[in-house]
Amino acid sequence: MEKTELLRQIKNEVLNLTASPLYAYRQENNFFPVIGEGSHSAEIVLVGEAPGQNEAKTGRPFCGASGRVLDKLLESAGLARAKVYITNIVKDRPPENRDPTPGEIRLYGPFLDRQMEIIKPKTVVSLGRLSMKYLMEKFNLMHLFEPISQLHGKIFVGETNFGKVKFVALYHPAVGVYNAGKIPELKKDFKNIL
Ligand code: URA
Repeated sequence: MEKTELLRQIKNEVLNLTASPLYAYRQENNFFPVIGEGSHSAEIVLVGEAPGQNEAKTGRPFCGASGRVLDKLLESAGLARAKVYITNIVKDRPPENRDPTPGEIRLYGPFLDRQMEIIKPKTVVSLGRLSMKYLMEKFNLMHLFEPISQLHGKIFVGETNFGKVKFVALYHPAVGVYNAGKIPELKKDFKNIL
């Protein structure tokens, strides 16, 4: 089956994910699930945590304040947004922008795993500590786990069932929303994606 068809199948499954504790909240608010966006043959996949309000209203990842910072960081690294694939671990918005729960991460994680298996990127980038932990577990890197303050900007080699990937752990772009003074450090880290 074509990559696009396989990704569409994931979208349909998430749309009908009535087992999710976030499903009723999505329906009550006329929100969309946020599946992912970008090139289906991207060499770089970026993984955030969960959609915020702007994302849930539009169905597009990183289209609010964090997205504006992310766009700046991508541009500073010379990366076109259309050439990468951007997604999240959890595909529905948790209420009040709370962190996704471990149960939500367990429920939605397999969709992210499938997206990566379909796209087969050479590089996977985590945005934030929750996606860092999820991906380090997936990529057999937990023996190197430390707080994000120690690991941000570092490059690892992860193991997947589609081969080795370069894995880069980055701060969540929201860090730059709340503290513009951090942007130079975020830009420096972003260069390590290349
Ligand atoms: N924060 C995330 O982690 N993901 C988004 O899509 C938007 C904000």
